[in-house]
Amino acid sequence: ISNKSFPQMELPPRPALFDFNGVSMTRYFTDNWENVQNFKARPDDIVIATYPKAGTTWVSYILDLLYFGQTCPERQASIPLQKRVPFLDISLPSLPTGKDLADQLPTTPRLIKTHLPVQFLPKSFWEQNSRIIYVGRNAKDNAVSYFHFYRMNSAVPEPGEWSTFLRSFMDGKVVYGSWYDHVNGWWEKKQTYSKLHYMFYEDLIEDCGREIDQLCSFLGLSPSVEEKERIKTAVKFDNMKQNQMISFTTVKYMNQTVSPFLRRGKVGDWKDHFTVAQNEEFDEDYKEKMKNPTLKFRTE
Ligand code: A3P
Repeated sequence: ISNKSFPQMELPPRPALFDFNGVSMTRYFTDNWENVQNFKARPDDIVIATYPKAGTTWVSYILDLLYFGQTCPERQASIPLQKRVPFLDISLPSLPTGKDLADQLPTTPRLIKTHLPVQFLPKSFWEQNSRIIYVGRNAKDNAVSYFHFYRMNSAVPEPGEWSTFLRSFMDGKVVYGSWYDHVNGWWEKKQTYSKLHYMFYEDLIEDCGREIDQLCSFLGLSPSVEEKERIKTAVKFDNMKQNQMISFTTVKYMNQTVSPFLRRGKVGDWKDHFTVAQNEEFDEDYKEKMKNPTLKFRTE
């Protein structure tokens, strides 16, 4: 992987949201659709799949350290995470596509990030029986985090006020569509596809070491106690925030003075955003949409 930073770029005005086969999208996540769908997976590829803002970066960094923390120190020091773990779906003007970055990854295994709903994951991953890690985060915090991300990210539409954004989130009228469909779709897949590890942001907050252990047993890794301690320290919120290779500071289409990429890193931040009325309506709607009793999220 070369260490050239991304070229300076100006994005066109914020893109429009449109319906794409039943899922709301903007052009930056659909322009390269055919190539993404024809991606040639390998059996040892590892996919990190999430709804946006569920903890993708956190888990990507853990995996990167588990696989390459010891062997490639220069990778940690000089290559931004978004190049080590490419975002398969994305294609922005005058930047290499995520698919091309993924194709060109020289390291094994390839760590590949996607936000695609389960029905759109390129079929080659299923055919190759690649391992997939799905990270879910409770809907309320996920919505709040997505709102602030919308504010600072010119690859998505303007969010409007919080109340407007929350309505759009509940209606699935945000990039990557309905949170409810996303988490449920991947949860259902887990019942039949054994190489899918479904984990939760709230569990990572509760006990990161335990979650790393579970990841290791899923991946067949056995890092030393010291190595695990090093990883646990490196992936603490404050340490990640200070690490310029991790905090997306090189990404020109994100304005971190509006809202930092690593923003609060908490469970329950929704309480500072939802009004009582919004919370009641959200809970009612949630009950309607989340019928599967086996899929449970913690909101505090
Ligand atoms: P907040 O906006 O609530 O702070 P993604 O990587 O999927 O875009 O998710 C980003 C969210 O994960 C942000 O949530 C970010 O702060 C949080 N996050 C990233 N690393 C974290 C860590 N080490 N500890 C806690 N939260 C983390």
